[in-house]
Amino acid sequence: FHIKDFQDDLLYWFERQQRTLPWRQSRDAYRVWVSEIMLQQTRVETVIPYYERFMERFPSVEKLAEAELEEVYKYWEGLGYYSRARNLHAAVKEVQEKYGGTVPNTPEEIHGLKGVGPYTAGAILSIAYGLPEPAVDGNVMRVLSRIFRVEDDITKVSTRKLFEAIVRRIIAHRNPSFFNQALMELGALICIPRSPRCDACPVAAHCRARKAGVQETLPVKKKA
Ligand code: ADE
Repeated sequence: FHIKDFQDDLLYWFERQQRTLPWRQSRDAYRVWVSEIMLQQTRVETVIPYYERFMERFPSVEKLAEAELEEVYKYWEGLGYYSRARNLHAAVKEVQEKYGGTVPNTPEEIHGLKGVGPYTAGAILSIAYGLPEPAVDGNVMRVLSRIFRVEDDITKVSTRKLFEAIVRRIIAHRNPSFFNQALMELGALICIPRSPRCDACPVAAHCRARKAGVQETLPVKKKA
């Protein structure tokens, strides 16, 4: 496995093939944060109009912090998982009060915020601040389980930590933002759950599962 070749192939593909998405128009940490919270349990196509309406009404930490929770719920109506809206509102108020409205840029400070788990923290730190932090969600675990032929159960916390360690080893320090987003985009467009499009994959040459013909059997997910 040649890390530099892998990075080059992945980043080159992302630069040409990435979708134009509203949260990719700016690296503002608040905008990245809101998008990642909305995207956690909801599909991209569903999120887009909600995201645009939300950003128009609450364009900054300050605007969201001064809004009433009831109004925030109104803009979330239909997205579901309303605890996401409640936690986001509480966390944004904390950022306003404690950090003067600037989303913190260290893992320690970001981790303390309500509703911000390891994935969201890594997404903000890498996408908005360019820091080489992993952002491992289910899609990224699927991609990496195939590339490295990892057969561990992805529902286990230890497996997510294994993938975070892998990302720390292979992440492109010249562009952590694009690197993490490229893994997400690969999972969304190419390395899909059923019948992955290996013929169109920019990193198929690096993929251990593909080499062994076992890509459809990964990731391993123990039934609850
Ligand atoms: N899913 C989660 N985060 C995403 C992002 N930043 N872009 C596209 N899909 C995503």
